[in-house]
Amino acid sequence: ALTLEKEGHPELGEVEGIPLVQVTCNEWQRIQSFQARPDDLLICTYPKAGTTWIQEIVDMIQQDGDLEKCKRAPVHHRHPFIEWVRPPQPSGVEQAEAMPSPRTLKTHLPVKLLPPSFWEQQCKFLYVARNAKDCMVSYYHFQRMNKVLPDPGPWHEYFEMFMAGKVGWGPWHDHVKGWWKVKDMHCVLFLFYEDMKKVMPSPQDLKREIQKVAQFLGKNLDQELLDKIVYHTSFDVMKDNPMANRSGVPRSFMDLSISPFMRKGTVGDWKNHFTVAQNERFEEDYEKKMAGTNLTFCMEL
Ligand code: A3P
Repeated sequence: ALTLEKEGHPELGEVEGIPLVQVTCNEWQRIQSFQARPDDLLICTYPKAGTTWIQEIVDMIQQDGDLEKCKRAPVHHRHPFIEWVRPPQPSGVEQAEAMPSPRTLKTHLPVKLLPPSFWEQQCKFLYVARNAKDCMVSYYHFQRMNKVLPDPGPWHEYFEMFMAGKVGWGPWHDHVKGWWKVKDMHCVLFLFYEDMKKVMPSPQDLKREIQKVAQFLGKNLDQELLDKIVYHTSFDVMKDNPMANRSGVPRSFMDLSISPFMRKGTVGDWKNHFTVAQNERFEEDYEKKMAGTNLTFCMEL
């Protein structure tokens, strides 16, 4: 068993060795046969890599900075999450099928589990990667409050589970390496959370990343719109935005009093969680798993 089952915290199932929410596994055939369309944009991330942040940025670009349009629905409803299943609500596949084109969709799936029609239709993929240590910390706090995922248990146990890849959507290492590998064969814009965070002393870096996204989507933003997007997608503003901060999600699903969805939004919070010994163990394991890739991460700013 991946973890002890606790009330409201179900265990994970598995597809091809990748742990996934059990209800997602049950619907796997439908998810695999999902029909992508050529003008789909798919936002792809490992969990906790900054999905919501990039979703908000993409939406502001697509809506030409119109805040009212961006507030049409909570961010997790604006972009169907294709492997999402939570009866009796419509599944991610059903939401996507009902959506007119052009669609922006979301997934956490690793390359090997992506429905093949995305490759066949040559869709655009926007991947955001975040360093493993901060992902682990963020995921730990997320699992504490998210009743759809297993209870993470105490930190030292979670640390081992994450390193072993026994968490939802599987090992972080394979995920980032897999997407990094396909990026030159397909239309993939590969971004780093840490590049978007380098906003001191001015938000030039974030603006550059936002402009990259805009150009990937076939747009060019003027300074005024860039400034507006930087402001409205800043951590503090998104934390107070009910359309981004998950405040409308039922408590039985996410208990934000345990840990807020918009928790810290920083680079290097792992230093407040990892012991020296854990860090050494992590680094040793990391070097082995990341050997042979030129993909590098910034662990602190
Ligand atoms: P922390 O738990 O480290 O704070 P996801 O959307 O993929 O689930 O990722 C959530 C993580 O992204 C959380 O990390 C959250 O605080 C952070 N995040 C969300 N919006 C952000 C923003 N505008 N700026 C920086 N970080 C943000």
